[in-house]
Amino acid sequence: MWESDGGLLARVDKDKMPRHVAIIMDGNGRWANGRGLIRSAGHRAGVKTLKNILKTAVNLKLEALTVYAFSTENWKRPHAEVNFLMHLFSEYLEREKLEMHQNNVRIKFLGRTEDFAPALQKLMRDSTELMKNNSGVKFNVAADYGGQDEIIRAAQKLARRVKTGELLPENISTQLFEAELDTAGQPPVDLLIRTSGDLRVSNFLLWQAAYAEFWFTDTPWPEFTPEEFIDALVDFGKRSRRFGALNE
Ligand code: FPP
Repeated sequence: MWESDGGLLARVDKDKMPRHVAIIMDGNGRWANGRGLIRSAGHRAGVKTLKNILKTAVNLKLEALTVYAFSTENWKRPHAEVNFLMHLFSEYLEREKLEMHQNNVRIKFLGRTEDFAPALQKLMRDSTELMKNNSGVKFNVAADYGGQDEIIRAAQKLARRVKTGELLPENISTQLFEAELDTAGQPPVDLLIRTSGDLRVSNFLLWQAAYAEFWFTDTPWPEFTPEEFIDALVDFGKRSRRFGALNE
């Protein structure tokens, strides 16, 4: 089991914890370049950070953690980098899946899967299957994911149901729409963290983050620590969330 740092976790008020945290793990490449390393060294360091943050999420008993591993736009990067990210992704799943399982993590993949190599698709299916009955952290890995693409896929599924006559257009509701998203059955995003200084949402969880609180840091992903993750959660606990209404 992953051991917990009780002192660190004690900083978080359990009553003010977000249910769902999403992270844009940005800055691996810049971190590596700044050290005279190749970009892939940054991605490798980023995997270590991810492992530490998942451990912290497990110890905090967070309900859901979603990370942006590969966007639908990331295919535009040079072949060598795309190949390296795929290799890293496979290696990570192969190496970590049992340990995640032992820690009651339930992994799920958001996004398209059909353009990944068959072996990687199988690894994704096997990992999902292995952990499907776990009741701990819902760990969503967004891979070949784009928020607009996810919304279009959901609209297509609903349109097919309308075409067969099973569903009337006027009966399409927020709930029905959500049930067709990759995150069906999970809570909306409460807190969205982005590392490495850019202040944008980059097509991540566009629907689910409708009322998310944002937390930005200049720290590049490889240097993001459990301490800073806790800083974000503590800050979240101080926010006044009105969801469009007025304060009582
Ligand atoms: C952003 O850094 C990061 C990515 C595009 C990929 C995120 C991947 C990891 C953290 C590691 C792999 C993940 C898994 C699940 C194995 P960037 O390359 O955009 O950095 P830059 O903006 O500095 O160029």
